[in-house]
Amino acid sequence: MEFQELKIGKKTARVPIIQGGMGVGVSRSKLAGAVAKEGGIGIISTAQIGYDEPDFETNVCDCNIRAIEKHIKLAKEQADGGLVGVNVMVALQHYKEHVKAAVRAGADLIVCGAGLPADLPELVGKSDTAIAPIVSTRKAASVLLRMWDKKYGRTADLLIIEGPKAGGHLGFTPKQLQTITSDDYDNEILEIIQEKKIYEEKYGVSIPVVAGGGIFDRLDIEHVMALGIDGVQIGTRFVATEECDASLAYKQAYIRAAEEDVVIIKSPVGMPGRAIRNAWLQRLQQQERVPVKKCFRCIKKCNPEEIPYCITQALIHAVTGNLEQGLIFCGANVGRIRELTTVSALMHELMG
Ligand SMILES: Cc1cc2nc3c(=O)[nH]c(=O)nc-3n(C[C@H](O)[C@H](O)[C@H](O)COP(=O)(O)O)c2cc1C
Repeated sequence: MEFQELKIGKKTARVPIIQGGMGVGVSRSKLAGAVAKEGGIGIISTAQIGYDEPDFETNVCDCNIRAIEKHIKLAKEQADGGLVGVNVMVALQHYKEHVKAAVRAGADLIVCGAGLPADLPELVGKSDTAIAPIVSTRKAASVLLRMWDKKYGRTADLLIIEGPKAGGHLGFTPKQLQTITSDDYDNEILEIIQEKKIYEEKYGVSIPVVAGGGIFDRLDIEHVMALGIDGVQIGTRFVATEECDASLAYKQAYIRAAEEDVVIIKSPVGMPGRAIRNAWLQRLQQQERVPVKKCFRCIKKCNPEEIPYCITQALIHAVTGNLEQGLIFCGANVGRIRELTTVSALMHELMG
């Protein structure tokens, strides 16, 4: 099968691979710039992106805004004309500020997940930044596209479908995660493609659709392309690359992990998440709660008195290599990763 370039409005990625945004420092400028340089779309996650700025503890919002602008600029310098976007979680406390900062910094694309980005068209205004919501079901796609159509008279530039095998926070209930089969999900993908056709016809545009969650090799890419998908979003495989912005210890945890080490956890974000079982998670299961010493105001709906642990703190520990106290998010196929590679080698392997 021949892979085509991925066209998003007036922008074109030579290679139809989007590197998924990975929060709290896992995908910043180094990884996103390298993927963009290879012809894919590099995505920087804005979730606590400024965690290593010197005044982060006292000035969280400003540090994140500063880091969004800095990392977009750095990634674009590296990208050699390739496309660089950001991933902004709708559940974030400062979601709107992050979107506006990314537009100001000239992001090519804004991807929004962890909630429905009802006001995203208004936030990007008439800028050149393309908008791409993440949806997991036809129902979510239908609600959002209808809302944008009625309220703003516009539609998505790209749709990203995230399936149950993805990493990080998941748009499914724990029960769905146990019961949805690959065939069920292929049908959901076909349904979402039907839904977007309504708006392609209405607006006379093409809305490419990208699928992610458990895409590991070229065969997986060919499988979703045969369903009518235009590209793929891949997260987990990009973690085990030299360019990934996480610590070496984090990447080694990916290389060591076996299939049975992957667990579904409860996150303070209110969605289930997928992670590698480690001593910290086991302790959490026994004690049930790690008291929150400081609140970083990362998500809108969070009461530090009630949550089992602080997700920002746990993810910062992990990304900086303190795995003893860290939460290591991963996709369902992490157990198949055997070695550290480079972005270039991985992209060549995936494209065959
Ligand atoms: C470590 C990690 C962090 C992630 N962080 C985010 C995030 O901040 N926002 C988001 O929308 N998705 C996040 N994701 C999901 C990825 O962007 C990607 O869509 C998904 O993992 C694709 O599945 P795969 O990992 O099996 O390739 C994360 C995934 C991983 C593995």
